[in-house]
Order: sequence, then C-alpha cells, then structure tokens
Amino acid sequence: MFQKLQAKWKVNGLSLILILITFATGGSLCGYLGKKLMNFTGIDKGILWLVLYIIAITILWPLCVLAISIPLGQFPFFKRYIGRIFSRFSGKRKANTPITRVAIFASGAGSNAAKIIEHFKKNQHVRIVLVVCNKPGAGVLQVAADNGIDVLLIEKEAFNNGHAYLKELKEKYIDWIILAGFLWKVPLPLIQEWNGKIINIHPALLPKYGGKGMYGQKVHEAVIAAGDKESGISIHYVDEIYDHGKIIYQATCQLGDNETAGSLAQKIHSLEHEHFPRIIEQEISRFS
Ligand code: GRF
Repeated sequence: MFQKLQAKWKVNGLSLILILITFATGGSLCGYLGKKLMNFTGIDKGILWLVLYIIAITILWPLCVLAISIPLGQFPFFKRYIGRIFSRFSGKRKANTPITRVAIFASGAGSNAAKIIEHFKKNQHVRIVLVVCNKPGAGVLQVAADNGIDVLLIEKEAFNNGHAYLKELKEKYIDWIILAGFLWKVPLPLIQEWNGKIINIHPALLPKYGGKGMYGQKVHEAVIAAGDKESGISIHYVDEIYDHGKIIYQATCQLGDNETAGSLAQKIHSLEHEHFPRIIEQEISRFS
C-alpha cells in the first residue's frame, strides 16, 4: 500500500512518511479546533450542532493541513493536493484541471524543445517545467534559459547504473517525459515510474532505421544509402527497447534525386516541428 501511494504521489519514502504525519496531525488539529469553535457558539449538541460542525471542519481541514505541512516541508505537495480536491468539487473541472507537468529530455540544438515550449505556452493545463540534458554546452540549454525553464544536467553513470535521477524528477512532480533529441536509452526505473507516459521522436519511419546507434545524420545517411524514396518521422511511446514502443504517429516526406543527409535532415526537422508538439498535446489530453 505504501509503495502504491509513493508511486501515485511520486514522492520518496521520507516524503511519504512526512505527508502521512501531516494528514494525521492536520486532521487532529482540525477536529480539535472545530470542537473549540462549536463550544464557543454555545449551541447544544443536536442536528444544528452537527451541521455547523461539519461546515467548520470542512473549512478548517485544508487550513490545518497546509499549516502543518509548512514546518514538515510538504507545502508544495499539499498545495497541489488540495488544489485538486477543490477543482474536483468546484464543477469547473476543465478550467481548474490540475497542471500537467512535463520534462523534456534533449541533448542537441533543441529546435524541437523550442517548438514544444512555444506550443504549450498557449495551453493552460500543460507546463514544461524541466529540461533534462546530458551535454554541457548543448543548444537546448540556451533554449531552456531563454524560456526560464529549470535544467537538470545528468551524468551517464548515475543515469544508467545509479538512481536514474528519480528523486529529482519526482521532486518536480513530472507527469510526462518527452524525448526530443535525447540519445541515451531510458533506464528501466524511469520507464516503470512513467509507464506509458514517455514519448520519443525518431527521424525515420520506424521500425526501419531504428535501434542503438541510429541517430541524427547516421539515420539519414542509411536511408539514402538504401536508395529509399521516402523517409519521415515516428512519434512513439518508449519502452525498454530502443525505438521500439507503440507508434503514435508517422509523417512522411519524399527524397529528391540529389538528396543529401543534410537536406533530408532539414525536411525531417520541418516535419518534426509541425507535428511533434500537436501529437504530444493530443496524447496528454487523452489522460486529463
Ligand atoms: C531530431 O531530429 C530528433 O528526431 C532526433 O534528434 C534531433 C534533435 O534535433 N532524435 P533538435 O535538437 O530538436 O534540433
């Protein structure tokens, strides 16, 4: 049960304990204050007393829990949690739908990241909150800086064989992971944690020209060397095998007679910029 809660709330073990303590203490404080308040009114116990007591604790509960969460360092969690409860009861579910928080993993120039960030500025329900990058100096870091988005620089050993940065990602309450030019294989702990919520873009028509080592210019060179007349993009869910998960969307482009890897890369980038942000939005909206 505790593991289920941890996964649902995307928190570590210590945070889970502190959250449960906050619930318990906040609840007791709320009951205590509610009774004090009712004593103060001087109303005798009965139906009226009960109705007023329920109203009092309904108002007091979020205040008590939020107050207790501050010293225990759990305020961000409870602000979000209570926000969700309110949006559920307010009837304005759509307008108050909790924000979906997205991390973009990228290590290249970041042109796709820039398009995605731009696209979601118009969406009140989705926010790009983090750029995860494994390459100091990559163009995508400037894209993040220009847009005031936090960056997490990762190292291979910790990512693959260590903690996989689970803690850092959970602390940011990441709901979705988008791979936009990220070349490392996503480690199992992340795939399990964000099961069905990691999307990648590949610059070819999968299942052709995918797999380990197939990235960037190498993909386009292979397409040209094979004499293909068509290439394109594949947007797909990520599983534990490179470029393998369920394909969500593909778009194609034709190769010219004198096509080079460079000119094909440009065509592919145009397709990516046109479709990737829209497909991400479509998939996220299926869950909200
Ligand atoms: C894109 O072509 C993407 O398909 C591939 O890496 C490239 C990243 O380009 N995986 P950019 O960094 O978004 O400009």
